[in-house]
Amino acid sequence: MLKTNFLGIELNNPVIVAAGPWNMDGANLHDSIAAGAGAVVTESIVSDTMIDVGPRIACDENGAQNIRLYSDIQIEGWEREMEIAKSDGGVVIGSISAHSPSELAYLASKLEKYGADAIELSVSNPMLESLEVVASHADVIYEMTKAVVSAVRIPVMVKLSQNTTNISKVAKAVKEAGGSGVSAINTVRGILGVDLEQARPMLSTYGGVSGDYIRPMALASVATIAQTVDIPISGIGGISSGRHALEFMMLGASTVQVGTAVMLQGKKVIRTIVDEMQEWMEANGEKDPQKICGRALSNLKSFDEMRYEPFVSTVIGVPCEEHCDRCVETCMYKAIAKAGKTVHVDRTNCTGCGLCTFICPAKKLSLGL
Ligand SMILES: Cc1cc2nc3c(=O)[nH]c(=O)nc-3n(C[C@H](O)[C@H](O)[C@H](O)COP(=O)(O)O)c2cc1C
Repeated sequence: MLKTNFLGIELNNPVIVAAGPWNMDGANLHDSIAAGAGAVVTESIVSDTMIDVGPRIACDENGAQNIRLYSDIQIEGWEREMEIAKSDGGVVIGSISAHSPSELAYLASKLEKYGADAIELSVSNPMLESLEVVASHADVIYEMTKAVVSAVRIPVMVKLSQNTTNISKVAKAVKEAGGSGVSAINTVRGILGVDLEQARPMLSTYGGVSGDYIRPMALASVATIAQTVDIPISGIGGISSGRHALEFMMLGASTVQVGTAVMLQGKKVIRTIVDEMQEWMEANGEKDPQKICGRALSNLKSFDEMRYEPFVSTVIGVPCEEHCDRCVETCMYKAIAKAGKTVHVDRTNCTGCGLCTFICPAKKLSLGL
């Protein structure tokens, strides 16, 4: 039921394991495939491997910050790793990163030779400032994409960054250069937090933030690309459940990628995400994931298209059995009162902001005209 086609490649399902150290070598890629992924992306491969600093990964309950650089394995070593990764079949996408188009073309042609099914250009590393800048230069991305597209026959996608002023312009450049698709987003430059007692940031330099923290930005990036450029999109950022994956698909992604959830929960989360997607589709009579792709976009307007509507909150059903006053305490318009188990909305004060409908744990409030 979840079988799909992405960039001309048949996938068992749309859930791809993203580039990162959980896919650092052939054995890990093989495990990700065995855990149920529709495809896997290698950790980014570079020409000159660099020594990692430590500590380099911090996390909390909402996500992670990392300063891990790239694959430790030289490009030649990937011949053997690809063999291991693909030993039981499975789709492997080779992620590469470099500063020059010719270097990228070289890495891509090597990986094609080693059996990669597609290439992902990772051009948006939030630790290396020069690459972070590249991510917003459509002309540079055009040259990089064109060089790689000319060097290989397999599909090429480009991984975009949210840290750019115009993600659509960059996605258009990828399409014009012959790229088959884009993935979005990479991690977002940030600092996870500060240990107050030691006066020390969690990691000792700025890093890439991932996980729940970045899902809203990632959803917006995917929707923006989908509304402006006709190109297949792989949605990435904070996906840890089937519902998250489907949200990205409804906003225009045809596949999704999962990184931090695999890092923090282990590879079993891949099967959970796939199963949850399948359950939702069965329960909703859906048979083809591609039919879901972009379905929510017609309900996503630009702010200029929004019309004034005199919404007010209405209480759905009494009594309210919740032992909380959150609707009353958080109503900025002083429109909600509670007496015992009865909630009352003063329609003259309510301006239809909608906050209470999200705040109420029992979903007792809804907006209506
Ligand atoms: C520890 C770590 C290492 C990563 N390494 C790479 C990498 O080598 N290449 C790349 O393109 N993205 C890399 N990423 C970014 C992820 O592939 C993904 O785009 C990002 O983390 C957002 O998705 P997530 O919230 O599901 O993790 C890395 C992320 C983390 C957390």
